[in-house]
Amino acid sequence: MARRKRTRYVNRDGFARPKPADMSRIVGLGGSLRAASFNSGLLRAAAELTPAGTTLELHGVADIPLYDGDQEEAHGIPAPVAALKDAIAAADGLLIATPEYNASIPGVLKNAIDWLSRPTDDIARVFGGKPVALIGASPGGFGTILAQEAWLPVLRKLGAAPWFGKSLTVARAGALFDKDGNLIDEETRDKLRDFMAEFAAAIG
Ligand code: FNR
Repeated sequence: MARRKRTRYVNRDGFARPKPADMSRIVGLGGSLRAASFNSGLLRAAAELTPAGTTLELHGVADIPLYDGDQEEAHGIPAPVAALKDAIAAADGLLIATPEYNASIPGVLKNAIDWLSRPTDDIARVFGGKPVALIGASPGGFGTILAQEAWLPVLRKLGAAPWFGKSLTVARAGALFDKDGNLIDEETRDKLRDFMAEFAAAIG
């Protein structure tokens, strides 16, 4: 009899190991296409600072096409969308790193979530009761607070469970990240470490 393939993951020490039953898994979704994105950098830092016993698997939106109902009708759900849906469905929690555009949600990230909500009768499998944490960074003084608020009606519509245990809005990001978008500010890293510890505890 063929041996069942076991899921493998790479821990922070770089060694692949089978996933123990008590390991929590979070999917991290970054909402920017920019190479040196603050929000992608925030998510990378979150992966480094996620506590032992929890993994943060990083995803982006670069492979997600623009939503087009005609394309959906003709070809169904695109492969990158289906893969991301399955990853979220299998995860214990979702962490969204949202940029803020014009005091709200950036289009590329909303587009991705709109695709992930198709078809409607699959929403409950992907998002139903899923703990969702929001973080974000912007060069302005309010650090994506309006974008994070703007996500709440969307999450409610999807039947997700927004997590309000801690808040992380990273303002004046230009001074906290290096030119490649890596989070270098120790105080912000400490806040992010605390945030991840509490989110991991909440979903664990
Ligand atoms: C912005 N930006 C911005 N920032 C903010 O704090 N509040 C806002 O309302 C807006 N509005 C806005 C609109 C548009 C169209 C753009 C392109 C930008 C600035 C934004 O936070 C900045 O570009 C960040 O660097 C975007 O995030 P990433 O790409 O660094 O992750």
